[in-house]
Amino acid sequence: MDEKRVALVSGGNRGIGLEVCRQLADEGLVVLLGSRDEGKGREAAEKLSGEVHVRRLDVTDQKSVDDLVSSVREEFGRLDVLVNNAGVANDRGQSGIEADLDRVRDALEANLLGAWRLTEAAIPLMREDGYGRIVNISSGLGAINDMGGGSPAYRVSKAGLNALTRIFASEIRGTGILVNSVCPGWVRTDMGTESASRPVSEGADTPVWAATLPNNGPTGGFFRDRRPIEW
Ligand SMILES: NC(=O)c1ccc[n+]([C@@H]2O[C@H](COP(=O)([O-])OP(=O)(O)OC[C@H]3O[C@@H](n4cnc5c(N)ncnc54)[C@H](OP(=O)(O)O)[C@@H]3O)[C@@H](O)[C@H]2O)c1
Repeated sequence: MDEKRVALVSGGNRGIGLEVCRQLADEGLVVLLGSRDEGKGREAAEKLSGEVHVRRLDVTDQKSVDDLVSSVREEFGRLDVLVNNAGVANDRGQSGIEADLDRVRDALEANLLGAWRLTEAAIPLMREDGYGRIVNISSGLGAINDMGGGSPAYRVSKAGLNALTRIFASEIRGTGILVNSVCPGWVRTDMGTESASRPVSEGADTPVWAATLPNNGPTGGFFRDRRPIEW
C-alpha cells in the first residue's frame, strides 16, 4: 500500500477548496479533488502539481457520497484527511424574521448535512487505520458569541457545523481521529468577493494546518490563523 496520506477535499474545484488541494498536494499528500462537475474539477486540477485525482462529489447527494467513499476504499484502501469545504452563501441580504425557508433548507443541506453525510461515510475508513484529520470549514458568522442579524441561513448552517465538530470530536475522542472547525477569514473567492481582505493562500493556511496536525494536536476546537477562537 502506498504510504502517502490520502486527503479528500469537497468543493475542490475553486476558491479555498482548490487552494487547500494545492497546498496539501505540495506537502506530498495524495489529493482527491471533489467536484460536483467533473469537467470543472479536471480543469482546476490542471493548475496543480503533485498527485491529484479528480472525483465527482455532490455533498447533497447521498449516492454520490457513498459511491465516492467506496471507490476510495477500493482504490486507495485508506482515507486520512477529510476537508469539508463545499458550501454555499445563498442568503446575503436576507433577514431572519422574513427568511425564505427554502433558501434556509438549501444552505443547511449543503453546509451542514453535506458535511455530516460525508463525515459519517468517511469515519469507518479512518477508524481502520486509527488515524484521521477532519476539518470543517466554518465561519466567524457561525459563532454564537458574536451572532448578529442577516444571512440567517448561512449563519445557522455554520453554527450547526460547529456543533457537529464538537459532537463528532467527543464521540471519537481517543481513536486517532481529530475533528476541528476552522474559519478561513474573509477570503477573495467567488463567495468572499474581490473586496475580501485575504488571498486564498492565507485562507487555506489554517485548514491545511488542521488537516496535517500531529497526533497530539487539538480536537473539538474552533480556529482562525491557527489560534483558538470563541464559539
Ligand atoms: N470566502 C470567504 O470569505 C469565506 C469565509 C468564511 C468561510 N468560508 C467557507 O469556506 C468554504 C469555501 O468557500 P469559498 O469562498 O471558496 O466559496 P466558493 O468560491 O463559492 O466555492 C464554493 C465551492 O463549494 C462547492 N459546492 C457548493 N455546493 C456543493 C455541493 N452541493 N457539493 C459539492 N460541492 C459544492 C462549489 O462547487 P461549484 O463550483 O460546483 O459550485 C465550489 O467548489 C465554504 O464552506 C465557505 O462557507 C468562506
